[in-house]
Amino acid sequence: MLPEHVTIIEVGPRDGLQNEANLIPTEAKINFIQLLKSAGFNEMELTSFVSPKWVPQMKDASEITDSCLDETRNFVLAPNRKGIERVRSTDVSAIAVFAGVSNSFNQKNSNKKTDELLNELLPLVKELKSEGYFIRACISTAFYCPYEGKMDLEDTILVCKKFVEAGVDELSVADTIGMATPEEASALFSRLTKEFKSTLLTAHFHDTRGMALANIYACLQAGISRFDTSAGGLGGCPFAKGATGNVATESVVYMLDRMGISTGINLDEVMKAVDLIEPYLSRGITTPFRSLYLKEKEVPSN
Ligand code: HMG
Ligand code: MG
Repeated sequence: MLPEHVTIIEVGPRDGLQNEANLIPTEAKINFIQLLKSAGFNEMELTSFVSPKWVPQMKDASEITDSCLDETRNFVLAPNRKGIERVRSTDVSAIAVFAGVSNSFNQKNSNKKTDELLNELLPLVKELKSEGYFIRACISTAFYCPYEGKMDLEDTILVCKKFVEAGVDELSVADTIGMATPEEASALFSRLTKEFKSTLLTAHFHDTRGMALANIYACLQAGISRFDTSAGGLGGCPFAKGATGNVATESVVYMLDRMGISTGINLDEVMKAVDLIEPYLSRGITTPFRSLYLKEKEVPSN
């Protein structure tokens, strides 16, 4: 049984741009977000309140939130108490915290081992829940770590469980370096649906090895109906060696549309956002769907 409706969480403005070498003007980011909003996303990651020394591309986080908040669910990432304090001075109501399953990844991404990071984040989650924030926990290296290799499924479940016990509303569980197979995606997400019945479960696939759509299909069969995607297939974590783009929003929306599964997303509007951001990027957008779309646009209509 496949779902009739799928929720797409657009992560292009955050995951998509954070690893981009060129510093993109804030105004272009805001226009990108506004065009994406007109495509119909009700949930989006806008930016990150991380250290600008670590991720200079995200240093304009408060300007982005000042211009882009609306009645839809707009996530911002925060890595620590300092990031949370910055978020508290905005009108943001949905926060994403993040932690990997592997020690080596957490050391590179957050300058802390897994236990130290969880000791900082879990009390923060409880605090934020008591203040009424919507909290998602992004779980990196849920399948593979670029430094430690294959992760033990039980370790992934344990990290997820700690966040669920702290009260998060959502788990976004990630294949950070795009190595998971459909069988692995099915095994982990089937288990997550059994373990965490009252938590929203979202799958976050990077498409490094071209397996993301197959993994999404496996997740649909496992009962998952929420996916993080990035317009143009942009993205990658700067601290995960070899991580490349997220699965492209346009490919996922196209596949689901063709399968008769509604998303509420207008593909033409997504492509306008991709067209807008491309000139600011250090590399061209090469998702297969985009070249197809460009060719189709060249075909005379009569
Ligand atoms: P640190 O160097 O240990 O932190 O980094 P610190 O507390 O020693 O502070 C160092 C400096 O940064 C200080 O400034 C702080 O004030 C400042 P100084 O005194 O030297 O002038 N600082 C901050 N400034 C603004 N906002 C803050 C903040 N925190 C410290 N929040 C830290 C630790 C966590 C800060 C750093 O490691 C960091 O920012 N990491 C973020 C890494 C990141 O953004 N990664 C990408 C997001 S996760 C991801 O992409 C994966 C995901 O997509 C899922 C998947 O695909 O796997 C979600
Ligand atoms: Mg990611």
